Amino acid sequence: MFKNLLVTGGCGFIGANFIRYLLEDSDFTGRIINIDKLTYAGNPENLSGIESSFPDRYLFAKIDICNKDEVTKIFENYQIDSVCHFAAESHVDRSIVRPDTFIQTNIIGTFNLLEVARNHMNNIQLFHHISTDEVFGSLGKEGYFTEDTPYKPNSPYASSKAASDHLVRAYHKTYAMPITISNCSNNYGPYQFPEKMIPLMILNAFDGNPLPVYGDGLNVRDWLYVRDHCTAIWMIMKKGIRGETYNVGGSNELENIKLVKMICDILDEHKRLPDNHLRNELVTFVTDRPGHDRRYAIDFSKLKSALGWSPEESFESGIKKTIQWYLDNSDWIDRVKSGEYLSWVKEHYG
Ligand code: NAD
Ligand code: DAU
Repeated sequence: MFKNLLVTGGCGFIGANFIRYLLEDSDFTGRIINIDKLTYAGNPENLSGIESSFPDRYLFAKIDICNKDEVTKIFENYQIDSVCHFAAESHVDRSIVRPDTFIQTNIIGTFNLLEVARNHMNNIQLFHHISTDEVFGSLGKEGYFTEDTPYKPNSPYASSKAASDHLVRAYHKTYAMPITISNCSNNYGPYQFPEKMIPLMILNAFDGNPLPVYGDGLNVRDWLYVRDHCTAIWMIMKKGIRGETYNVGGSNELENIKLVKMICDILDEHKRLPDNHLRNELVTFVTDRPGHDRRYAIDFSKLKSALGWSPEESFESGIKKTIQWYLDNSDWIDRVKSGEYLSWVKEHYG
């Protein structure tokens, strides 16, 4: 099963955690071929040590999923038999300012991969597509997203992911491609690019900088530790019914303002600011994100009952681990914040 697994976007946050999990901690025995365009969000350092620890089981190529010839060469040179597709533009705020790259990578890129996979259908055991709960739109105070919730995306990012989900589903219905799709809630953990809420707040709060909370701060997200997302993906890939979608969530709803204050308290306990002010005082309410979804909450009972998956990490321990990881990895943070890793990428890959 899965001898030559193509992972797209493996140098990003979740992709890198997934590759580490598969090679270091799971029962996967095959080889991973990671293709990544290395955009601002793709950092080869997220996989440092992997190439040397697994020289026969890990390969990397800098490739844009929109480049059909290059992707075809990868399928042929490495006899790809399975795909786990993470590559995407992933940040909602960027999609509001510049939607074009989201349309290109998330829709055209996914279409391209599907076409190449279709041209190699005899070899393909599975095309697993990583998606998001944002395709379902926004919830009010009550209720949960299930696999049957109608799609109602609100941001250019969410719409582009919705379009890609529909394409993947259509390739199953029309061409009998063996596919699975997972729609997951907000992830947090090591290697997340510090434009996203949790790492941004950790780093700003640690340095005593303002903490920009959008709107009234009462928007709710359902947080899942990234390792738990990785175990869910692997379980779906191995045992999920082909053609089906699975929701993945953390049972862990939090208002943004509560989350920010929790991060402040943990950091205050760790090390007080030089002027002895509490970090909560750094909270600054700023103009709301246009079209800001109010609440996400996931019903993952299908994944639980059909495949036996549940998240293992509690939010309390996951957020402490995550904060500790950011405190322990100041070199990684400095290079990411200064853009130094991008110069390295340019030097090594052009
Ligand atoms: P990320 O932005 O950290 O990483 C994306 C990766 O894709 C980067 O390595 C980037 O270089 C690569 N990439 C971008 N465009 C590419 C292209 N044209 N060709 C090849 N590679 C390209 O994103 P992430 O947070 O790790 O998200 C990964 C996937 O999971 C995405 O599909 C996202 O929609 C989905 N998702 C994310 C979350 C979350 O909370 N972060 C939750 C649910 C689903
Ligand atoms: O739900 C899954 C999605 O979660 C993924 O599909 C996306 O790829 C991922 O980026 C994430 O989207 P969000 O928009 O929910 O995540 P973000 O970290 O950008 O924001 C989380 C919440 O915090 C959201 O309500 C907006 C708010 N926020 C965010 C930032 C960056 C702030 O209040 N201030 C901020 O500075």
